[in-house]
Parts: sequence; C-alpha cells; structure tokens
Amino acid sequence: MALLEAIELSKTFQKHKAVDDLHITIREGEVLGLLGPNGAGKSTTISMIASLLEPSRGEILYKGKSVLKKSEIIRKELGLVPQEIALYPEFTGKENLMFFARLYKVPKKERAERIAEVLSIVGLSDRASDKVEKYSGGMKRRLNIACALLHKPKLLIMDEPTVGIDPQSRNHILEMVKQLNTKGMSILYTSHYMEEVETLCDRIAIMDHGSIIAEGKKQDLIGMVQDQDLLYVSVEQQVAGFEQAVKEIDEVLFMEREDFRYKIGLKQQAEILPELFTLAHEYGIRIQGIDIQSPRLEDVFLHLTGRSLRDE
Ligand SMILES: Nc1ncnc2c1ncn2[C@@H]1O[C@H](COP(=O)(O)OP(=O)(O)O)[C@@H](O)[C@H]1O
Ligand SMILES: [Mg+2]
Repeated sequence: MALLEAIELSKTFQKHKAVDDLHITIREGEVLGLLGPNGAGKSTTISMIASLLEPSRGEILYKGKSVLKKSEIIRKELGLVPQEIALYPEFTGKENLMFFARLYKVPKKERAERIAEVLSIVGLSDRASDKVEKYSGGMKRRLNIACALLHKPKLLIMDEPTVGIDPQSRNHILEMVKQLNTKGMSILYTSHYMEEVETLCDRIAIMDHGSIIAEGKKQDLIGMVQDQDLLYVSVEQQVAGFEQAVKEIDEVLFMEREDFRYKIGLKQQAEILPELFTLAHEYGIRIQGIDIQSPRLEDVFLHLTGRSLRDE
C-alpha cells in the first residue's frame, strides 16, 4: 500500500525548475532509495514532503490524504533528518535531544526514556553528557538522526545522512537503517552514493534534473539497460574446438576472441565457471585469468543520462 505519494510535484525558484513534474510512491514498510547527483532536486523534494516548502504545483498524499492542506496529518508521523546538521554545539547531546523532544511534543513523562532509547539506537549513550562541539562529524550526524527518532515516526526521511563522515559512523548508520526498517519503519533514504542505495534499498528511484527518470527494484532497473553479465577469460594458448564448445553452453549469449582473451556474454547471474573449467581441462587449455563484470546501478544512470554519477 502507498504510504506516501507525490503527484506531478513541481517547485520553481525564480525561473529555475528545481523539481519538475515528479512522481514518487513510498510503500508501507519499505526502504526506498532516492538516488541522484548533487543538484538533482532531492532536498527540495524532501522539504516539500515534510511541509517545509510549498510546492509550485502538484499534490502530496499521506495515507491517501492531502498533506498540502493539512500538514498536521504527516507532521506527527514523519521524522526528518536534514542534510544540514541542526544542533546546538554548546549544549550536550542530551540537552539537544531534550530541546527536540519538547519541539516534537513528546509527553513530559516519556522524554527521559525516549532520549535514552534513541541515544542507544545511534550508539551515543556514553557520550550523551558531552558538548556537541566535542563530537566528530559522524557523531553529530548520528545525534541529528536521534533527534528525528524521538517521536517514533512511521516514516523516516534521511537526506544524505552519510556525506563526509568516518567509515565507522557510516556503517553504524547503515546498520541502523536496516534495524529500524526491520522493526517496521518506512524509510526514504536519499543519497548520491550508489553502493549505499544498492545494499540498503528495496526499491530505488533515480532522480535527475528535478524528475524521477526510473523507479523499481534494483534488478529490474539493471535489466532495463542490460540483461547480461560479461565474463573475460584469459588463456595461454588457443586450441581449436574450445571456443565452439563454450559457445554451446546454454547460458552463453555470445563469445568474441581478442588475441588471448575471450569476451563472453552471459545471461544475468549465470554460473558457467565449473563447465568452463571442465572444457578448458578437456581441451588442454590453461586459464590465466577470469574477470566477471555484472552490470551495476551506475550503468543504469549512465545509460539513462549519458553521464556518470561518479563524476558529479
Ligand atoms: N532556495 C533556493 N533558491 C534557489 N534555488 C534553489 C533553492 N534550493 C535549491 N535550489 C536549486 O534547486 C536545484 C536542486 O537543489 P537540491 O534540491 O538541493 O538538490 P539535491 O538535494 O539533489 O542536491 C539546484 O539547482 C539548487 O541550486
Ligand atoms: Mg540535497
């Protein structure tokens, strides 16, 4: 079921269309990845979903009801982790959380317990009494996430939560997203890091120039642009018959020879290595090197936009 749906969502700044006729659906219980380069319009989209920015056009439905006319419908159930860290550096972690707990109207008698809970979720229990200005970048990010979890949101929106932080904090955040989702939280995870989106997300929406240019499960997106893996096999010598025998394997789509290296197109995720080794043995061929290249999300972006996401 659709938890949140944005329809024909648009935002124009002066004359610049930051978000342009965007459609997106977040389903109950999923982690939806919103992947796009810097400037694609991800933060602008999120701000509109969180009722912080008024759309120029379009509609946002939460559980089928319009959020634009009644933002309180979503406000209580939405946790937003903004891209920019919004904390008071001169206060301790706990004091910051107390401030946000009041802001989110967490009932007074539940505050201490909720604060202890979210500190534990983000792994900062032992640093709760230190001033935030003493925190590392990764710790600040984790506290920023803790703030968004205080009121037990049903939908968590995270805007590039791992940019510029140490690997340990990054891993902690990725693990935390999985855990929260396992416990039933729906999550919109925004990033320009493909690897994160690939490992975390049930479905992925790819955004570029203000619109969603593709949306689906990772394998379906990849299947849109390429339905084969490439296997490169280097050999010491060529033996007549070997090439023909390999070509006859069911999963082999094509095979080309470049001197002492074969390029073999395979059906996606086909397992031909055991057969390949058996044939090589039969024909007395020594295999010197093997390299398998499965298509990745990067290839989807490249195919759809003509640009590489990594260059951004
Ligand atoms: N308040 C604003 N005023 C003018 N232009 C803006 C404003 N906010 C964002 N933009 C522009 O809108 C585009 C999308 O920005 P943004 O949503 O921040 O992208 P992303 O989060 O994907 O990096 C960019 O070209 C950005 O410069
Ligand atoms: Mg952004």
